[in-house]
Amino acid sequence: MKSKKDIKKKKQEQANVEIQTQPKDAVQTRREFLNTLWKGLGVVAFIELTVVFFGYLFSGKSENESLKPKQLFDAGNINTFQKNSVTIFRSGRFYLVRLDDGGFLALSLRCTHLGCSINWEEDKQRFICPCHASAFEINGNVQNPPAPSALDYFPVLIQNGKVMVDIGTKLTRTRFNKEQAAYI
Ligand code: FES
Repeated sequence: MKSKKDIKKKKQEQANVEIQTQPKDAVQTRREFLNTLWKGLGVVAFIELTVVFFGYLFSGKSENESLKPKQLFDAGNINTFQKNSVTIFRSGRFYLVRLDDGGFLALSLRCTHLGCSINWEEDKQRFICPCHASAFEINGNVQNPPAPSALDYFPVLIQNGKVMVDIGTKLTRTRFNKEQAAYI
């Protein structure tokens, strides 16, 4: 038969066991909660990325859409334009340049300094601005400041032997590069 002292000791031991196991359970529970939280956040992030991806895919504003011509201007047959020539189209507000490598470039009439209309000087093979004397090369590069950057340009498309200029899309640039020109 157990004495009162033994029973008390036994109870004390059980109480100690409970006290020791409680924090472990608490730690375990916290860890599980954090794991669940991270998993949940991961799922939310995945869903958001999926929605953004498919939204972009089906929004109708893909890269092809943004390259779609807005307002095509028919500048005429490609054979009309000699290499190294400049033709003004006042109604379209651009100069059509045919570079000496055969590429077509449609340049804005507006000076990139303060927007005055530029003139082509055939004898000097340059564009000149009457306002503050900026000068530009045939490809639109700045030859003489204060103009800060090359002349703006419009995308050119060659369609059925014709030069079509998208006068609804004016593009800015720092300098000329061949990708801005259209080739046959
Ligand atoms: S507006 Fe052309 S140089 Fe100033």
